[in-house]
Formats: sequence, structure tokens, C-alpha cells
Amino acid sequence: MAKNMKTIGVLTSGGDAPGMNAAIRAVVRVGSYHGLKVMGIKRGYNGLINGEMVQLEPRDVSEILQRGGTMLQTARCLEFKEEAGVKKGVEIAKVFGLDGLVVIGGDGSFRGAKDLCAAGLPTIALPGTIDNDIDCSEYTVGYDTCLNTVKDAVDKIRDTATSHERCSVIEVMGRAAGYIAIQAGIACGADVILVPENKWSFDEDVLRPILESKSRGKRHSIVVVAEGIGGVIEMAKEIEEKTGIESRATILGHVQRGGSPTVQDRVTASEMGALAVELLLAGKQNRIVCLRDNKVTDVDIEEGLAMKKELPQRLVNLAKQLAI
Ligand code: ADP
Ligand code: F6P
Repeated sequence: MAKNMKTIGVLTSGGDAPGMNAAIRAVVRVGSYHGLKVMGIKRGYNGLINGEMVQLEPRDVSEILQRGGTMLQTARCLEFKEEAGVKKGVEIAKVFGLDGLVVIGGDGSFRGAKDLCAAGLPTIALPGTIDNDIDCSEYTVGYDTCLNTVKDAVDKIRDTATSHERCSVIEVMGRAAGYIAIQAGIACGADVILVPENKWSFDEDVLRPILESKSRGKRHSIVVVAEGIGGVIEMAKEIEEKTGIESRATILGHVQRGGSPTVQDRVTASEMGALAVELLLAGKQNRIVCLRDNKVTDVDIEEGLAMKKELPQRLVNLAKQLAI
């Protein structure tokens, strides 16, 4: 055990994701197993700055494994982007006797974790976001649950689109990342998938495939659009005007962020939470727990944040081939 590691904190930050609770539970239980005192910090970095934290014992995290959301609440804390905010966080951590911290969130939260390490609080970052957009990790907790939620919704939309022989334009989450769009789109047999990573034109990439699908005898069209592209209501109108095919738009929205986590999210979150604690116990800090070559491992935060996660273009091409 690291000489001074007696008390650790855990917080969730940024957009919530199903499986965050499973990760909190793993940090609390594995920490307790190793004799650590674990403090649950409320509302992300806001709670650290304001000293909003309570001790969590193993029984305090009962009945959360199967729940979406985060029992600690989450927030986006602007103050923490400033040096003074980080300094305050480290001071409050000292007041509460925190020797280490686990931050569950996305890449913004990881920048905060890096700043905390530099300011003197050993911190480990754990990827929790539905976007699957953490460069150094093949997987982020929440992604699989989100994909299944989208799959269920699009399957239902497809039923009614077929009955009415309509085109359905569906917006899924992902401001800068097209992972949800491409994988859910393939899983749901979308005719068109638009992702923020790739250039597209309305005539070539939307109209043409819809008209071709129709001429090949398809009775509906499914267009999946990532949030970063937006404009699905106008797009549905334009499709109707230019093709004569009745069209409807659906914005799936925050339904994609909730729900009971899948097995993959529960197990990955549990493994990642355990490794985060083990790293702190081993005296390590400034690390991101991640999935690489399908194994839960860790990388340096700066190295991890500098990596560039590409959207697999083979999936983009596959989606087009499957849509004929
Ligand atoms: P996510 O972690 O899901 O990417 P955000 O980008 O909103 O979500 O970041 C969550 C929080 O992390 C922010 O509200 C802020 O408190 C902190 N954060 C974001 N960027 C930085 C940064 N560059 N330096 C320090 N903290 C940051
Ligand atoms: O980062 C997760 C995410 O759900 C993105 O996919 C989406 O763009 C964003 O958060 C939405 O954030 P908010 O909760 O502020 O609506």
C-alpha cells in the first residue's frame, strides 16, 4: 500500500452515463476491501471545491449497480477550469484528509484530474461517457447501454416508418463524435448515417441513397444523424419536398443517457473502478484507466489526452454497403 494512502475520494463529472454507479460502487468496495476510507464527493468538481462529501461504506452503495445516472450527482464546474478553482479543490481535499481521488467522466474531467495531480492531489481518471470518445480507451462506460437504448428506439420508429412508407430522420447524441451514430446506425440498418467527423452533402449523401433505396423496393428510409450535425427537422422537410416521400424527424435526446446499465457497462465499470483504487494504492497518479487490446489497463493522462481517436472508416463504408 502507498505509505500515505488512507483516505480517497470519488466523484462523477461532466455528462452522466449508465454504469457510473457501478464504477462508484467498485471504488467504494475495493477501497474498503483494502482498508481505505472512501469519501463520495457530490456534484463533480463543485462538491470538491465546496467540501460537499460524505463517507461511503460498502452498504451505502447497495442497490445502485443496476441504476442509471450517478448517486453522487454530476456537474460541469466552470470555476474548476481556472487555476484558483483547482487550488481550492486541493486545499479542501487536505481539510477532509483525502490522499487520492478517482474522477469518473469524460475528457474535460480528465483535464481537471491532470490539473489536480499537478497541484498536489494524486488523481486517477476513469472514462464514463456515452460518447465513447476518449482517445486512449477502446471503450467508455455507458456506451453500450446508450447503443441499446438507441437500438430499441430506432427499431420502434422503423415499425411505424414501414407502415406509413415514410422516411425517418433520427438525431442521436454525439456533439463531436459519431460513434453512437455509426454503431447504432449499423445495428438498426440505417440507409444514411451522418457523423461530425466526415464531410457530407445533402444531394449526394442524403437524397441519392434515399431515392436509390426507394427504387430498389424499400418501403421506408432510416436516416441517423449525429447531434453535432443537427438540423433534423429541416432535413426531414427538405427530404419530403425534394423526393415526395413523407418524412418525419425524431430527436432522441436525453433518453439516451439514462437506463439500467448493460452487463458490459457494469463489468467494465467494476473492473475500471477496482484498477483505479489499485493504482492509488500502488502510489501511482496522473493515470487514465482504459481499455486497450480488450484489457483494462492504464496510461499517463497527458499521453492519453494527446491521442487522437479516429472513427473507423471501415464502419462508414460497411454501413453504405449494407444499405443497398
Ligand atoms: P466531460 O468530462 O464529459 O468531457 P466537460 O468537458 O463538460 O465534460 O468537463 C467536465 C468538467 O471538467 C468541467 O465542467 C470542468 O469542471 C472540468 N474541466 C473541463 N475542462 C477543463 C480544463 N481544461 N481544465 C480543468 N478542468 C476542466
Ligand atoms: O458527452 C455526453 C453528451 O451526452 C453528448 O453526447 C451530448 O452532446 C452532451 O453530453 C449533451 O449534454 P447536456 O447534458 O448538456 O445536454
